[in-house]
Amino acid sequence: MAKICVIGTGYVGLVTGTCFSDIGHQVVCLDIDESRIKQLQKGQMPIYEPGLEQVIEQNVRAGRLAFSTNYRESLSGADFAFIAVGTPSSDDGDADMQYVKKAAISIAEHLDHPIIIVNKSTVPVGTGDWVAEIIQDLNSQDVPEFSVVSNPEFLREGSAVSDFMNPDRVVLGSTDPEAAQKVADLYETLRAPIMITDLRTAEMIKYASNAFLAARISFINEMATICESLGADVRQVAKGMGMDKRIGPSFLEAGLGWGGSCFPKDVKALAHMADTRGAHPQLLQAVMDINHNQRISAVKKLEQALGSLRGRLIGVLGLSFKPNTDDIRDAPSLDIIRMLLDGGAEVQAFDPQAMAASKAEIPQIILCDNPYAVAEGVDALLLATEWNEFKSLDFQRIKNNMRGDVILDGRNIWDEQDLHEMGFTYMGIGVPEPK
Ligand code: UGA
Repeated sequence: MAKICVIGTGYVGLVTGTCFSDIGHQVVCLDIDESRIKQLQKGQMPIYEPGLEQVIEQNVRAGRLAFSTNYRESLSGADFAFIAVGTPSSDDGDADMQYVKKAAISIAEHLDHPIIIVNKSTVPVGTGDWVAEIIQDLNSQDVPEFSVVSNPEFLREGSAVSDFMNPDRVVLGSTDPEAAQKVADLYETLRAPIMITDLRTAEMIKYASNAFLAARISFINEMATICESLGADVRQVAKGMGMDKRIGPSFLEAGLGWGGSCFPKDVKALAHMADTRGAHPQLLQAVMDINHNQRISAVKKLEQALGSLRGRLIGVLGLSFKPNTDDIRDAPSLDIIRMLLDGGAEVQAFDPQAMAASKAEIPQIILCDNPYAVAEGVDALLLATEWNEFKSLDFQRIKNNMRGDVILDGRNIWDEQDLHEMGFTYMGIGVPEPK
């Protein structure tokens, strides 16, 4: 059993700290946000992440997990300090490192015993060395022994707990192989393949993985656009491609494209890193452009089907950037809603978890209590996020409630033939028009 301090209680920090406690380690999750820590101490969840609340509760009760704002107490006797703070995009696309820097300085100020510092935040390649320099510089007199290990996370929002418990691999990068091995030991019970590299390579593996996944989605979305012009069905194309073991079936779902707190920020940051070093990231640029165009093209489809957006009422099902999360960061739905409003339409919407946050971003959205209320009086209905509860709706009821008959299935979850036969004008993404 190791003693771990996890700095940052966002998705990554909270899931990482909680799961480490669940596999037997002694964990303190630390944050400088007092209200967040108070909330956690009272057993209230600051984020919606399926399964997390229960695991937190169990481990707090077992005495393995605690929450604190106090660096001195949290780091006291800790074998490992995990940095899991946010690295939002700054204006030029570079990752904003102020929170990582603050965390490194705070560790340095309170360091009184040997420790391994593990970086979980997604940081520009080279940050591990930079963190080590910050700590070294601030402790120039008498630095306790420390090492920096990069341990990128591959957790998906909505399934983060099970992703932590069943990793495809654990990547560790360090100039100190002994320290990397000690971090590997923390994961021992998970029996995952472990890969140990140098610091920069581990940091790069994270960016390359996210960029590749984003590229797969943009690739299939480009195929969807081509399918539409040729009358082919992208769902079958993806299935046929995915049966090739070299390609595989995941991340080939055409739709409104990728959003969230990771892909947009990481692809942009990687392109920026490449640009500033004179390497021209042509593919990454195309991956981002295609993703942006998916949103514009959804608006164009609605405009075309309705003749004009002006004065139209449009219903939107789903606001979070993907199902099973309340996260709306860079959600395709919100971009599309902004464009619809700019075009003169009104928008009403429902989401199981993300309504208040969306309303705070775009006050003009009319919030509804359920999907049927969203359909009430609308000229068109857009499915933006494929929550399970939207998969089998009573479409007769939807039809009766709607003023118009246009459906844009932005995630290809409904049966186009059924809806066509019921009298809807159905549009999907890369799906041929039903006959
Ligand atoms: C992503 C990665 O999948 C994780 O491995 C990584 O750890 C995480 O970013 C991160 O860097 O922290 P996440 O953003 O939670 O995880 O969500 P994904 O499930 O990867 O989905 C990203 C976006 O792609 C969503 O908007 C989703 O709707 C979209 N998507 C996904 C598609 O449009 N098509 C697909 O086939 C798959």
